[in-house]
Amino acid sequence: MEFTIKSTQPEKQRAACIVAGVYESRQLSATAQQLDSLSNGYLGKILASGDLDGKAGSSLLLHHVPGIHSERVLLVGLGKANELDGKSYLSALQAACSTLGSSGASIAALYLFEETVALRSVEWQIEQAVLAVRAQRFVPGKLKTGPDTPGHTLKKLALIVPAASAKSAAAACDLAQAIADGAELAKDLGNLPGNICTPTYLAEQAQKIARDLPVKCEVLERKDMEKLGMGALLAVAQGSRQPPKLIVLQYQGGKRGAAPVVLVGKGITFDAGGISLKPAAEMDEMKYDMSGAASVLGTLRACAQLKLPLNVIGVIPSCENLPDGLAIKPGDIVTSMSGKTIEILNTDAEGRLILCDALTYVERFHPELVIDIATLTGACVIALGHHASGLFSNDDPLAAEIERAGNAAHDRTWRMPLWDDYQSQLDSNFADIGNIGGRPAGSVTAACFLSRFTKNYRWAHLDIAGTAWKSGKEKGSTGRPVPLLVHFLAAHAAAK
Ligand code: BES
Ligand code: MN
Ligand code: ZN
Repeated sequence: MEFTIKSTQPEKQRAACIVAGVYESRQLSATAQQLDSLSNGYLGKILASGDLDGKAGSSLLLHHVPGIHSERVLLVGLGKANELDGKSYLSALQAACSTLGSSGASIAALYLFEETVALRSVEWQIEQAVLAVRAQRFVPGKLKTGPDTPGHTLKKLALIVPAASAKSAAAACDLAQAIADGAELAKDLGNLPGNICTPTYLAEQAQKIARDLPVKCEVLERKDMEKLGMGALLAVAQGSRQPPKLIVLQYQGGKRGAAPVVLVGKGITFDAGGISLKPAAEMDEMKYDMSGAASVLGTLRACAQLKLPLNVIGVIPSCENLPDGLAIKPGDIVTSMSGKTIEILNTDAEGRLILCDALTYVERFHPELVIDIATLTGACVIALGHHASGLFSNDDPLAAEIERAGNAAHDRTWRMPLWDDYQSQLDSNFADIGNIGGRPAGSVTAACFLSRFTKNYRWAHLDIAGTAWKSGKEKGSTGRPVPLLVHFLAAHAAAK
């Protein structure tokens, strides 16, 4: 799929399909007005006959409109003219993409960047358009046998912008392509089943990224973890036949020696709960418990592709959480790399166990800041549902920076408290800390657990349990929060 930025006037346009907006009450966008006069009022007549109401997300595909070179004109509804906001704009893009995808057109021109969208720039509109097209065309990795479903016919898409915006639109297009590439990598890894996507497989994928892009990869093995004293990570791994891996990916786009941003991703390639076994219903979805890891790989890929002037390190603790004769048991006490002892009261609270050792490990990089990304708690899904990722931080400016990036990327977060008041829920009679905090505020106490290991740097935690994948008929990875992370890093690099 090729995207180009152009400023071609509609009367000169020869693409197989022109896409233009119309509002409710038969109001035409600037391009639709031009097409209407080129066609001697043909569009106006069609709208008058009531074939398209202009509601956001509605669409009408017309063929051989008189006076227009292009074979097709696709009209998409933008909603009420004075209410065009991000949300209605996104549903219009959605409609444009799905109709384009099923039309036979191989070249199309989008005239959807001339209208003013409340609080959003042309660059944002371009980015969202590219992401919508890429998402529409995404096909999950092929594990179904049988004939391939016919491919999409659309090969080229021209994004038509005012000439003055051409340069910034091209940059927005590049950003969106890198985000889409990173998110697709994350989706593919997330969707793979646990028997294929093992810790070893994740490590191989990281090594592949390091072969293709200017990124360095190092993989620590069980014996390395033993030497480092990673008793918490190894405790989770001991219930599985798959060897654990600690993956370290380094991208040096910034000055030598400049403190890096470190991303830590939870890489549980299957979470059965361990001896505290999960119920059977929907347990298959615990193959997505490595979505944090996948988002780190996708984000590093995007950073390298964009050549961001920033040093970024991705760290992925990875293993399975299974019940086994050698698995950890409720009541077991282990010593983490930090030296703190942990009473494992529930073996299903394993994410925080592997993360705490990774969070101690990253101190060696003297990070500027650390963000961990984890499908950490079912409680976060109860709190925020599937729209926002939970955001926890020991640093208000960092939290604000992440919230801004999430809004800009339309991959949003919602800040949750990390008050000391919650910490006592983690008290243990036998060890320094228990690994669960009871039912109340489960996502907060999980974050509190992590906060005990992140005292030496600026840190934020993203609980993506509700946002990393979709269930039911649409089951599949969303690739989130790659858009948020790439936006964060791009803005962070630009601010330096
Ligand atoms: N990976 C799960 C969290 C999860 C559950 C994400 C369901 C998405 C959907 C995590 O390892 C886990 O099992 N957490 C427990 C913690 C509890 C034992 C304190 C949970 O949320 O139930
Ligand atoms: Mn678990
Ligand atoms: Zn888990």
